[in-house]
Amino acid sequence: MNSPSPARPGIHIEALTVDYGGAAVIDGLHLDIERGSFFTLLGPSGCGKTTLLRTIAGFVAARAGCIRFGERDVTRVPPHLRDIGMVFQDYALFPDKTVSDNVAYGLRARRVDAENLRRRVGEALERVGLSALGERLPAALSGGQRQRVALARALVIQPQVLLMDEPLSNLDAKLRLQVRQTIAELQAEAGITTVFVTHDQDEALALSHRIGVMNRGRLEQVGTPAEIYRRPATGYVADFVGAANLLPVTLSSAVAAGERTSVALGGAQPVAVPAQAVSALPAGAALLMARPETLALRPDTSDAPDSAAVSVRVLRRQYLGEKTSYRVQLPGGEQLQVDRHGPGHDALQVGDPGRLRFDPASTLVLAP
Ligand SMILES: Nc1ncnc2c1ncn2[C@@H]1O[C@H](COP(=O)(O)OP(=O)(O)OP(=O)(O)O)[C@@H](O)[C@H]1O
Ligand SMILES: [Mg+2]
Repeated sequence: MNSPSPARPGIHIEALTVDYGGAAVIDGLHLDIERGSFFTLLGPSGCGKTTLLRTIAGFVAARAGCIRFGERDVTRVPPHLRDIGMVFQDYALFPDKTVSDNVAYGLRARRVDAENLRRRVGEALERVGLSALGERLPAALSGGQRQRVALARALVIQPQVLLMDEPLSNLDAKLRLQVRQTIAELQAEAGITTVFVTHDQDEALALSHRIGVMNRGRLEQVGTPAEIYRRPATGYVADFVGAANLLPVTLSSAVAAGERTSVALGGAQPVAVPAQAVSALPAGAALLMARPETLALRPDTSDAPDSAAVSVRVLRRQYLGEKTSYRVQLPGGEQLQVDRHGPGHDALQVGDPGRLRFDPASTLVLAP
């Protein structure tokens, strides 16, 4: 990525509260987005992603707190003076204007002269691969083409901040990947500080420098894609990003102090599994988290005893080509999803006994 120019400030949000009719939808939120970076707000429907994005844009007023772009306090600045480019979920193109005129809109509003306007619109359309379609009306474009017009329109004004609200959600699977690639390239090229909203974890993991996982108007965790996936801070994050086995366990005080040790899983016959506590949790109820691909499962053959492994039985299996996904049951009744890759990954059948091993490096203990 190009080094961002000072004209591309970071976004700093402090103690932001936004409410609709008295109920706080954003609740004392803090967030720092590094300049020139690609930041994604990820969370389920209704958690406040659009509200936060529209507050950053200035379309929704904050009740308390402040938003700064670099050193500049923009909390009370109207949207058209914030120097933002915005891509809306439903494109919001002008239906009676050609593609070129749609893209030119922000430049006309800024009174850019005719020659520069023509050049910049031409460049913007070329960047999104739509040079040939400048004279068409939006109705004569495919969904993916419309989305790229919306992108060109947001980028042509060379904004300090680019805000995108689920820009890929109306596209089919193949177009999503194409436009996703275009967005990644344009952002990296221009180095614009970008906030991208999605509820699609794959999109978030693939595009972002950092991700903020939202839960009911608050940020549950902020981190790089690998941090969010490998070290989720809470059961909520683990469950929302990727597949996770979450099993209730009781923490002894030693584990609560942050040691890597064994945690006893409940059930009729408690089994000890190695795990690391990610933060100093209080002793008591907690969640054990293991991703399906970190669990090792093999057929139960008596010739190779393995004292660290747990006996399980295969309840269900799904053959998925490059892997087989198994549902297995522990002696105490708890169920887990295990994904086996590599040669012979489909060797176990429903009803077979197996031996299961937890990976000490990736099995976590989380707050309940
Ligand atoms: N104009 C409004 N008036 C009152 N409540 C609103 C308004 N807009 C949103 N809300 C409420 O605020 C909460 C957050 O909405 P928001 O649109 O920010 O969620 P979201 O995370 O973008 O969800 P989605 O993924 O479905 O787009 C929801 O409970 C919603 O019902
Ligand atoms: Mg939304």
